[in-house]
Amino acid sequence: MAKTKTTFFCQSCGTQFPKWQGQCSSCKEWNTIVEEIVQKEEKRNWKQTSSKKTANIPLPVSEIEINKEHRIHTHNNELNNVLGGGLVPGSVTLLGGEPGIGKSTLLLQIALEMQQQVLYVSGEESQSQIKMRAERLQNKNSNCLILTETNTQNIFKNIENLDPDILVIDSIQTLHTNQIDASPGTVSQIKETTAELIKFAKETATPVLVIGHINKEGTIAGPKILEHMVDVVLQFEGDRNHTYRILRSQKNRFGSTAELGIYEMLGTGLREVTNPSEILISEKDSDLSGTAIAATLEGMRPLMIEVQALVSTAVYGTPQRSSTGYNLKRLNMILAVLEKRAGFRLGAKDVFLNITGGIQVADPAIDLAVVSAILSSNDDEAIPQNYTFAAEIGLAGEIRPVNRIDQRIAEAEKLGFDKIFISKFNKYKKDNLGIQVVCVSKIEEIYALLF
Ligand code: TYD
Ligand code: MG
Repeated sequence: MAKTKTTFFCQSCGTQFPKWQGQCSSCKEWNTIVEEIVQKEEKRNWKQTSSKKTANIPLPVSEIEINKEHRIHTHNNELNNVLGGGLVPGSVTLLGGEPGIGKSTLLLQIALEMQQQVLYVSGEESQSQIKMRAERLQNKNSNCLILTETNTQNIFKNIENLDPDILVIDSIQTLHTNQIDASPGTVSQIKETTAELIKFAKETATPVLVIGHINKEGTIAGPKILEHMVDVVLQFEGDRNHTYRILRSQKNRFGSTAELGIYEMLGTGLREVTNPSEILISEKDSDLSGTAIAATLEGMRPLMIEVQALVSTAVYGTPQRSSTGYNLKRLNMILAVLEKRAGFRLGAKDVFLNITGGIQVADPAIDLAVVSAILSSNDDEAIPQNYTFAAEIGLAGEIRPVNRIDQRIAEAEKLGFDKIFISKFNKYKKDNLGIQVVCVSKIEEIYALLF
């Protein structure tokens, strides 16, 4: 009989140690090292019968055959886009996100919409809870089977009888395998159950979708190696107080990671948002001062985003600067540039900045809209609603070019804007434009043009 082997794992970063210690020398967390049994004497196998081992032989790349573009299309176009065209047979996709953001809702909704047979395995909710959720989603599909189970051997037993086309696991942290004695959610259980799922996916060409919890740093809980093992890592994010959710791809072996999907959480599940710009711009009856619209890009997708600023005289000695959805350091930098390079006296003013829709914008092309919104609020003069902005601000007060300007101009034109302000140094295609492109190079210039 083989000896039971144990090792010490950091539960935070997954580093392995030969003996216990108080602090993990890799991630510096305290009290995270736990002893785990790594191997029992039995052989590991996703299926006891699968021992057909044909040795692989090396082949020149030119002779390797692929059945190109064989993708399983889900009914969810946003997800298809993020995956690079649909689910790849035999791929393992990991979906991470904050608790309550809608991971289970998204995957159940997709499972219910599929034509193919889906086995939805949940270790988190009972069958009746899932049924209640499915009723909210108002989709009745007999092709989706619900199994509440956490033991992988039992799951695979069911799979052998059912032979599903797609497998969904909610969540990897609840699974455990008989091969290992550690409790569910520990590093070695997560590693081992994922390895079993990957082996199953590759041997049967079944796509597997796995939900993963995230830890307090916002990365998927468990060892980093988990993200290396799977083919696709998706992140579902958003502000829980807002209804918009963004599906981002962090790793994709079969497509680009620049795509992203946008959803709106409704009472009846997640709705795909095909034209996000329309919902992110708030409807107003009259022109209000302090708002400007930026033509930004999220991944590869153009997004028109409304920036709101409020500039008022500071009541206390130290003026307040606050920002939602936009980097506060960058806001301070822009205020300093306005003060020093363009001579606007904002030093004694409170400045509040808000990006509507509860989204976080990292695209520097939003800078010009931020500047315009601040100046508009400072002068209490509105910017016409049919103007939009796309440029970065440099430390010298110069207006800098941004990437993919043609895509931004096209989106602005499509949404009916009449003028777009860009950097003078941005090259763009001039023919057949139904929108006026205004090129500026300094903050003073844009101020003179707007007010
Ligand atoms: P859930 O999918 O359970 O989140 P996760 O699996 O990521 O933890 O989503 C739960 C939230 O979604 C819950 O707070 C309620 C909300 N919700 C809706 O707004 N509409 C719906 O149709 C459903 C099913 C959930
Ligand atoms: Mg859930």
